Amino acid sequence: MKRRDFIKAATAGAAGVGASMIGLEAVAQTLEPRVVAPSDEIVVGVIGPGSRGQSLMRRMLRVPGVRIGALCDVYAPRLTEGREITGEDTPVFDDYRRMLDEAADLDAVLVATPPGLHAAHMTASLDRGLHVYGEKIMGFTLDDCDAIVAAAQWSGKWFQIGHQYRYAPWYREALERIKEGEIGTVTHIFGYWHRNYNWRRPLPDPTLERFINWRLYRDTSAGLLAELGSHHIDIANWVFDEIPESVMGSGSVMFYQDGRNVNDNVQAIFKYPGGGTFVFSSLIGNHLVGYQINIYGTGGTVALTLQDGAFYYEPARANSAVPEELMERGVNTSASLSTEGDMPYRGPGLDIQTSEADADPNLLAVASFFDSIRENKRPYADEIIGWNSAVPVALGNMAIRSTSHVPFADHVSAPRVNVGRGE
Ligand SMILES: NC(=O)c1ccc[n+]([C@@H]2O[C@H](COP(=O)([O-])OP(=O)(O)OC[C@H]3O[C@@H](n4cnc5c(N)ncnc54)[C@H](O)[C@@H]3O)[C@@H](O)[C@H]2O)c1
Repeated sequence: MKRRDFIKAATAGAAGVGASMIGLEAVAQTLEPRVVAPSDEIVVGVIGPGSRGQSLMRRMLRVPGVRIGALCDVYAPRLTEGREITGEDTPVFDDYRRMLDEAADLDAVLVATPPGLHAAHMTASLDRGLHVYGEKIMGFTLDDCDAIVAAAQWSGKWFQIGHQYRYAPWYREALERIKEGEIGTVTHIFGYWHRNYNWRRPLPDPTLERFINWRLYRDTSAGLLAELGSHHIDIANWVFDEIPESVMGSGSVMFYQDGRNVNDNVQAIFKYPGGGTFVFSSLIGNHLVGYQINIYGTGGTVALTLQDGAFYYEPARANSAVPEELMERGVNTSASLSTEGDMPYRGPGLDIQTSEADADPNLLAVASFFDSIRENKRPYADEIIGWNSAVPVALGNMAIRSTSHVPFADHVSAPRVNVGRGE
């Protein structure tokens, strides 16, 4: 299949999935304790039981009737740690092909290796007739993304991408209400994920730098746009029911000049068909504003965080029937505004109330994956959702690395450092 055809399929998939929300209540019920006959167990092999893999293994083992049947990692300490989680002498392998050939009774595979290895590990697992829970970003390159979609679609097995916020009850509630029109037409999304954490991991041996600190190097990492931004891109796709049509970007290594070549700050602007915009910023040198995604509509805003969400409503426009209380606040009709009207809004929003507000999206995501296998139904965050966020990451990085910026030096001869000082 040509990439053009994938894009068509991908866009159609996004719109279709957006329209049919699956119930999280039913998924939550599958977590209730029950006895499952060994013949009905779902047996999972794990490729890459590192930081993320271990966190997901712990959650998978909370789903009744799920067993980890094999572990594969090229770094032996991870296999020991993985066995501590299973509490068993789980068979271990240092080559994923051997695990796929030799491990008994596997039904599914969790792939949580660094992104450059996803395509090999995911396509081999699907080709072997196993369902796959694959971590984001789905593919490192455009070809990787296409290969994984093709393997998933031709295998007849289910693929779920690690976009767990698709399973967060407050995101689901927000998205349902946005699609019902509660904030009017969404025109703009502004998302940021700022941290104060340098991404560098301690090394047991200096020769392991590139292996352990894979996030810091371009040949193994798609950087902040992938590690953090892909979740926001996925949410923007979900809101707009589309994938972006263009991107421009910027980034640099500014804080942590320690030999890494992956940017420690990135900014990207994605344009969606119809004119919607998603602006993303990520830093790992300052955490003041943290994580938030603000979805701006003509009638209001939804602000979503990692734990909750709230709706805010715009004051009525000057040319509409303006309620008395808003008149008191002052409706602006000219270009010269009072500062009062433009100060950040710090009042309370209308919190999103959900019955599972304290639920763990990661747990619901894996429970939903196993429910898809048992009930033979397409995962909500499937390979199309994965392609739709991984491709904008790849193209966003292309924009960040390109020279699309207007170089000031091409237009003005010298910097004027003292402008405004009066000396
Ligand atoms: N969904 C999320 O919120 C989320 C959060 C964190 C990480 N992730 C994703 O999970 C993936 C892993 O990230 P991480 O932080 O766990 O990295 P990690 O380095 O902690 O774990 C990766 C593991 O893969 C192993 N590995 C490397 N090469 C291998 C090979 N050829 N065969 C088998 N095993 C191999 C490593 O030894 C390590 O144990 C990345 O794609 C990352 O983006 C997703």
